Amino acid sequence: MTVSNPEINGHDDYVRIFDTTLRDGEQSPGATMNVEEKVAIARQLELLNVDVIEAGFAISSEGDFEGVRRVAQAVAKPVVLSLARTNQGDVERALKAVEQAARPGIHIFIATSDIHLKYKLQMNREEVLAAVTRAVSFAKRHLDHIEFSCEDASRSDWAYLATVCEEAIRSGASVINIPDTTGHAVPEEYGRLFAYLRERAGGASGVVWSAHCHNDLGLAVANSLAAIRNGARQVECTVNGIGERAGNTSMEEVVMALKTRKDLFGVESRVNTRQIYAASRLLSQIIGQAVPANKPIVGDNAFAHEAGIHQDGVLKHKLTYEIMKPEDIGIPSNKLVLGKHSGRHALVERLKELGVEPTHLDLNSVFAEFKALCDKKKVVYDDDLLALVTEEARHAGEHYALAALEVASSSKSTPAATVTLNVGGQERTASSTGDGMVDACYKAICKAAAANVTLNRYTVKSITRGTDALGEVNCLVVNDGMTVAGQGAHSDIVMASALAFVNALNRLELRRHATGQRPTGGP
Ligand code: KIV
Ligand code: ZN
Repeated sequence: MTVSNPEINGHDDYVRIFDTTLRDGEQSPGATMNVEEKVAIARQLELLNVDVIEAGFAISSEGDFEGVRRVAQAVAKPVVLSLARTNQGDVERALKAVEQAARPGIHIFIATSDIHLKYKLQMNREEVLAAVTRAVSFAKRHLDHIEFSCEDASRSDWAYLATVCEEAIRSGASVINIPDTTGHAVPEEYGRLFAYLRERAGGASGVVWSAHCHNDLGLAVANSLAAIRNGARQVECTVNGIGERAGNTSMEEVVMALKTRKDLFGVESRVNTRQIYAASRLLSQIIGQAVPANKPIVGDNAFAHEAGIHQDGVLKHKLTYEIMKPEDIGIPSNKLVLGKHSGRHALVERLKELGVEPTHLDLNSVFAEFKALCDKKKVVYDDDLLALVTEEARHAGEHYALAALEVASSSKSTPAATVTLNVGGQERTASSTGDGMVDACYKAICKAAAANVTLNRYTVKSITRGTDALGEVNCLVVNDGMTVAGQGAHSDIVMASALAFVNALNRLELRRHATGQRPTGGP
């Protein structure tokens, strides 16, 4: 296979990582992030050294616009872009959102499959082609980094797809993306599609070809790798593989596959893999979705050897059963990191090693929380620290804050809880009984907040080991058709549960204030 684009030949031949955690990833149910959270993720993505950050879909809501704008201001190295459909309003809004970026870009898309043309767009092939020309050439007058995507490319007619790609390139696109929007493709077929388009579309050698896969058949990573084998030099992916339905290509899996099997692929990404674990944890804490234990690369069991024969082999030589080193992913050694005698300096240094930028934190408060934790726990692990920092960041600028919680329970009485909430600056106290302490506490919080919500999911996980471990509670709360996740961490499980529930109420509040819904006809 030959790659004739000078930019992607020779020493510059690498796979660009286009991270869409903040756009396609955010379309995962319950994964909505507020602006501050998006900025925190974007900063971590910059530490990871991703090439492109898709920060949102600017036209879809004020919240999305603000998210893109703030991310554009917050990072310097990666290209920051916004998604846009082909109409002028979308393109203008996206351009506006990225205007303060050090490296601005735009991502324009329109569907190309007959099924989307007929039922969704109600446009014919010529009309779609004209829309591509209009949108891409208009954007080209404002900036250089223009990515064009053919939505539902993998189910489109290949010859027509080649014509659309050629037109986008002629109009000024510098990246052409071929999405497997529905997760329908299989690796051999998806790879062949890239070979075909790079052969057939005029101007193909002057642009970067990009793969964008969904995981409906569990093939997103395999399909992305097949595209790379056939000349793609950009992969669109998300941290932890979050995304619409079954998710998108998982960033950590594709990056580590390229690194581990460089012998086969001959190209790598430029990701600083030692920041992968911190990115995975940060996202999981922010969206309140735990990473499954068996998730490759970042799951709790990814490096755990259970079988005796495996343990024996690993003890004799790690390479017997390990193809990657946990330290390459930045997985903390889970040793005792700090204790009650550690000073502020040691804390700051350890946070930096874990990929947390201390200047973005209220250090006085983090240090005080850290000391309080040291008093409660004998040993403080890296994961405890990460949970503490995230808990701290979670409370900035919130509408509801948990001021006090009292619970009572015994085998002879009905559990009861009294909660004091600070609601927009005013204290409100309410009491309730319930089926258990958590139930009583949630009912009391609902009374104090005058909220009527349904709890759809509730999980508790111990962050580190021991009976004094920090507990992490994730919950999914529904109100008026809106679903949000909440998360809380504390050494007392009822307290962690209350924090998670209050966190979910705050997210609901934010969602209500974000004007407008996602527009119809979106990706
Ligand atoms: O899956 C898809 O087709 C998309 C496009 C907007 C790139 O997300
Ligand atoms: Zn997608």
